[in-house]
Amino acid sequence: MSLLQLNELTKEYRRGGRTFNAVDRASLSVEPGDFINIIGRSGSGKSTLLNMSAGLIKPTQGTVFFNGNDIYQWNDTEISLFRNEKIGYVLQGLSLLSNFTVLENVCMPWFLFKRETEPGEPLPQERAQVLLEKTGIPHLSASYPKELSGGEMRRVAIARSLINNPALLIADEPTSDLDAETTAEIMQLLSAIAKEGTAVLIVTHELDTLSYGKKTYAMNSGHLTLHLQGQYTTTLNGD
Ligand SMILES: Nc1ncnc2c1ncn2[C@@H]1O[C@H](COP(=O)(O)OP(=O)(O)O)[C@@H](O)[C@H]1O
Ligand SMILES: [Mg+2]
Repeated sequence: MSLLQLNELTKEYRRGGRTFNAVDRASLSVEPGDFINIIGRSGSGKSTLLNMSAGLIKPTQGTVFFNGNDIYQWNDTEISLFRNEKIGYVLQGLSLLSNFTVLENVCMPWFLFKRETEPGEPLPQERAQVLLEKTGIPHLSASYPKELSGGEMRRVAIARSLINNPALLIADEPTSDLDAETTAEIMQLLSAIAKEGTAVLIVTHELDTLSYGKKTYAMNSGHLTLHLQGQYTTTLNGD
């Protein structure tokens, strides 16, 4: 049984009186500790696929199984709980709340999910600080998002996605707008997270992240195909 299994997922949209399939019978499975890349051009259906995988958009056809459960058989409350408990989601673009500190941003999904700390359990602020260390920015906990660089904001978003100990981390173009060096650092961070057992599923329109994942799929006008398989040690820079 896979952690996440997408079976022939289709999302049909209507625009200008015409319907089209933003995602067309896409199938994919993700196992614990996997690091899977999906590449594809803008508009090819990548975010739609991720949103269907995370319980955010109901597919027109096809099924999403998480740990053997068909998630779209659940009611809205059950899906919300599933999302908050099992999935860490690094959204495309800027997603931090500007009136809250870095530490408060990282804690946010914890308060949405649990609110109470059990005896012996670390406080969410303590957990958040550990995650900021892991993502390389422990010194920024009291800063506000507007004081951060693009790469630092991505690190905060990744730390925030991990606060509820998700089984699956989904990241939508986590390195867009970043320079090559910062991109490599973020990809290494995501790779380290996968090695610790959290499955990582990322989409990107850039090729320079390819060397990381264990498996790469390509999305082309809603069609998902296996592009590369295996662990790649080379990068496009040739080193
Ligand atoms: N809610 C919607 N209604 C109609 N069309 C949409 C909607 N959301 C996305 N699309 C269209 O579906 C296609 C795929 O979008 P998206 O999944 O965001 O692509 P990507 O993430 O690969 O850039 C695009 O043509 C987009 O314009
Ligand atoms: Mg997108």
